Amino acid sequence: MPHITVKPFDTSALTEGKHGQTTLLFKSQDLSSTDEMIGVEIEEEKFLLHIKKAKSTWLLKYDKVTRPLKVNLVKQAISDISASLELEVLNSNINIHKAKVMLAGIYEKSIGDFVDITFPFESVAIEVGFGSGKHLLYQAQKNPNRLFIGIEIHTPSAQQVLRQIELQGLTNIWVVNYDARLLLEMIPSNLCHQIFVHFPVPWDKKPHRRVISKAFLEESMRVLDVGGKLELRTDSHKYFWYALDTFLGEDIAKTAVEIRKNKALEITSKYEARWLRQEKDIYDVYVTATEQSAERILDFDFSFNTTEYKEGLVEKMAKKPLLFEGFFVHFEQFYQVDNDAILIKLAFGSFDRPEHKYIWVDKNGGYYFGSSPVKTVTNHMAHLKIKECLNV
Ligand SMILES: C[S@@+](CC[C@H](N)C(=O)[O-])C[C@H]1O[C@@H](n2cnc3c(N)ncnc32)[C@H](O)[C@@H]1O
Repeated sequence: MPHITVKPFDTSALTEGKHGQTTLLFKSQDLSSTDEMIGVEIEEEKFLLHIKKAKSTWLLKYDKVTRPLKVNLVKQAISDISASLELEVLNSNINIHKAKVMLAGIYEKSIGDFVDITFPFESVAIEVGFGSGKHLLYQAQKNPNRLFIGIEIHTPSAQQVLRQIELQGLTNIWVVNYDARLLLEMIPSNLCHQIFVHFPVPWDKKPHRRVISKAFLEESMRVLDVGGKLELRTDSHKYFWYALDTFLGEDIAKTAVEIRKNKALEITSKYEARWLRQEKDIYDVYVTATEQSAERILDFDFSFNTTEYKEGLVEKMAKKPLLFEGFFVHFEQFYQVDNDAILIKLAFGSFDRPEHKYIWVDKNGGYYFGSSPVKTVTNHMAHLKIKECLNV
């Protein structure tokens, strides 16, 4: 991922305003180290760059939470700042390819787009964790009138598939680089024909990170139209039984489940090819939606209309995770922006699907830097607590 190593420099030269194509919005001081974080904007994308300071060399790199999918924007911003301040670059992996900027914009969707997006296709399917994208690309080619929403948490895989979409001239794929467990909550009810979950990571030691859960099943059944299927394919015997247990659980009143063993599909994904070479068994578990679901209403307010930055705020705020019934809030790091604003890095929401964000707070209020949280009941409850904590 893009970064440069530079000789230490005078950060007072980092002034707000234009530096090449990049606008520097603010700079802020990490209150727990000497590091600094700068807010930048380029092509309407706002994100953060981290200045990580060691004794004789400093690193200028992207911030994971706010990183845009268009990696070229990060490269451009780092190289603009470096050129404008005439930094002494010791090491760099920045090499800008113009074509990539264009293509990401067309088929890449962000979580925020789903608040009021329309789906101009005959039908819609979703693939969760598409990895190399072999199955997603194949399905899209075979069904040109169906939209395929590919959700992948791993950024390089999402970027690789965006390149393939352009190379293959496909127009019916949207790529979303996000946690599918959260994104699914933004999809309207009764919309989809299929949800593919092929070879999810079993997470035997960290079950809270698994894609399949009771909550995921419920969301999938809401999103699927009557007759639509959630299709899980796995090579893990343990995960197969875990999924079956989840789909047939005591508290699931009604369900329609089919099971298959070693059924060949028309296309073999990268992972499947590996397991087949090892002669592993492959299991399919399909769950069919049998009922129409109620419409989903996303009318939560994630604003900070009553918030105001006051001196001493950071000292008063809890630094340890705050645990509540079904959710948590953890203020992880604080960055001071002059004397009248603060940037706060935090994690919050449900324990198995936490959100990671930054909040900007100044004398006129506050907002989530970059994008608002996914509009879920749990995130909204956490948001109300966050507001309470900021109003101490
Ligand atoms: C074992 S790979 C399988 C990839 C592909 N389906 C295949 O069959 O080759 C699992 C993929 O799921 C992605 N993934 C894991 N958790 C995810 C989540 N919560 N949301 C979206 N993608 C996820 C991983 O990044 C990885 O690419």
